[in-house]
Amino acid sequence: MSQRLLVTSALPYANGSIHLGHLVEYVQTDVYVRFRRQIGDDVTYVCAADSHGTPIEVNAAKAGVTPKAFVEKYRTEQHEDFKRFGVDFSTYYTTDSPENAKWAYRVYDALKAKGLIYKKSVEQLYCETDRRFLPDRFVKGRCPKCGTPDQYGDVCENCGTTYDPRDLKGPFCAICGNPPIVRTSDHAYVNLRKPEVSALIREWVEGEGHLEEGVRQQVRGWLADLQDWCITRDEPYFGFPVKDPEFPGKYLYVWVDAPIGYLSSAEHYFADEAPAGARLAPDAFERRYLAEGAPSRVEHFIGKDILRFHAVFWPAMLWATGLKRPDRMPVHGHLTVNGEKMSKSRGTFITGKTYLDSGLDPELLRYFYASNLSPGIYDIDLSLEEFRNRINADLQKRIANLAARVHSPVAKLGTLGAGTAGGTDRFDRKAVADALAAARLAYRDLEFRAAIRAVNDLADVANKAVQDNKPWETPEAPATQALLYDLGKALHAIAVMLAPVMPRFTAGLAEALGGVPLAWPDGFTPFDGKPVRFAAKPPAILPVDPKQVAQLIVGAPEAAEPAKVSKAPSPPGVIQYDDFAKVELRVAQVLSAEKVEKADKLLKLSVNAGDPEPRTIVAGIAQAYPDPQALVGRRIVVVANLAPRPLRGITSHGMLLAAGEPPNLTVVTVGDSIAPGTRVK
Ligand code: 2FM
Ligand code: ZN
Repeated sequence: MSQRLLVTSALPYANGSIHLGHLVEYVQTDVYVRFRRQIGDDVTYVCAADSHGTPIEVNAAKAGVTPKAFVEKYRTEQHEDFKRFGVDFSTYYTTDSPENAKWAYRVYDALKAKGLIYKKSVEQLYCETDRRFLPDRFVKGRCPKCGTPDQYGDVCENCGTTYDPRDLKGPFCAICGNPPIVRTSDHAYVNLRKPEVSALIREWVEGEGHLEEGVRQQVRGWLADLQDWCITRDEPYFGFPVKDPEFPGKYLYVWVDAPIGYLSSAEHYFADEAPAGARLAPDAFERRYLAEGAPSRVEHFIGKDILRFHAVFWPAMLWATGLKRPDRMPVHGHLTVNGEKMSKSRGTFITGKTYLDSGLDPELLRYFYASNLSPGIYDIDLSLEEFRNRINADLQKRIANLAARVHSPVAKLGTLGAGTAGGTDRFDRKAVADALAAARLAYRDLEFRAAIRAVNDLADVANKAVQDNKPWETPEAPATQALLYDLGKALHAIAVMLAPVMPRFTAGLAEALGGVPLAWPDGFTPFDGKPVRFAAKPPAILPVDPKQVAQLIVGAPEAAEPAKVSKAPSPPGVIQYDDFAKVELRVAQVLSAEKVEKADKLLKLSVNAGDPEPRTIVAGIAQAYPDPQALVGRRIVVVANLAPRPLRGITSHGMLLAAGEPPNLTVVTVGDSIAPGTRVK
């Protein structure tokens, strides 16, 4: 049965350009949205520019424009970039809107009416030159723990210590460089520790289907030490002024009205932008999507860095306002480039515009992301080398080539009609049914990696049939034509399965196949008895060349070839960070462990390392673990990118870390709060 959904991605600050790190989330959400629409669901996909807060106010002043003009410029630019990457929002609105003001006051008033707001006087750093309180990111100084200079007011980038900005040594204002003073100011706090509120948050966090298990574990940690939440800021600020006379001159903190922007942008869409037949007045919209018990699903896609706002504060705000809590909150990890955090100085802070300027097709990036995405909080690495290899191996050699190889004889033969539709022993139609079934489940569960694998598996079967039967040698033979018919249908299935990820390419392929539909209704099969024919040549995918990907690295094209970068030689025995970064260590949970026959030292483990399927690891630890069951359930650390190797006839996909010698050898473990698949760095 088809469902109605309101899907959101996080709202980017209207304070900069969209970069490839942002795009992980928007591609993930967009693929999901396209899939749900393809299977017949009614999906509204809402996003907006997050337009408030201190950085925007400060940057607008620096640029000499009003904050409104400043955010509008970025909002328009961001929306254009998203469209170029095929991200198909129903609307891309702004949090600085009248609808959002209305909703923000409504939420504030609801919190107040429930007695959840109280006043507290807080000491904060204040710059007398700029005449403003300094948020953590606007004060710098030496780390109180390790003494590293030039650290922000909340966390030291060198030693990772978090602290209060008042503890910084030699603090200075990041705007003007002068030392700040300490000043007090009264602020509004939300009493999240009140038992009814914390119980409600807990109930939502534990609710079926809301959070993935690893994510839930992380949120439980915060709930165990729940802190009240300060929801006001002092002027100057760009945001909504608090109307409560108890808090004169204060503004609502940007993180209050940001998630509220999901609701107000959706309301705006239905009132003003939806196609005529789909318009809804605000009250009808609220009943359909937001009210407690509303008959639609609400799903928020976010990144792990903003989980706390969404999984702790947001359910409480919704509940206080009498609205339904989200049905699902998928959380993704961050993007690294060539194994490292994106960095402006290394040129790996790649904007959407830089990518587009390189001439690379945006759908290739969508494909690469999809082929790496799964539902957990795993970081995705855009290794430029792997990107190129992946595109060339999958899209160019497997899929586009298959289309060309089927097209060429079929174009000569014309239409393959009923006479060829009876099936052939040269192609197993089950491969098509299996791939469709696997991909459908995988998309629904956000296991995009598995969906992409299903597409490639089917392409492999089809390519093998071409290879084995060489249709170009006997194009007129009925058996060849029956095979080509099935291959044409397999291509149709591939177009359907890839459509959420590569809408333009698959539309071209469907067009070439004579305008076959890309819908994916329940029970879909391409074997519908209809003829196979080509109306045009299928779209090609050109191999990506190294020069093109090198252009992604801003100002340093040679950096794309890590092997050639010259570096000062390391002293013997010392490795560079890059060497370490090559080793992909991941947390894996042991699912089963057993002895390997005729090998006293070996155990065979099956582990969940965050891959779609369990992986097998053979390890020489049997003597230290006479009862292998003792390992089951433990979270161990594995080298996940080690080339597979056979050990006593079993292929081991990785290696585990252990310390000591048998019998005192111990496998390295981590606590239960770290989800399987998490990178160890
Ligand atoms: O972290 C950010 O970029 C925020 N602008 C995300 C806001 S998401 C939602 F709450 F609006
Ligand atoms: Zn200052």
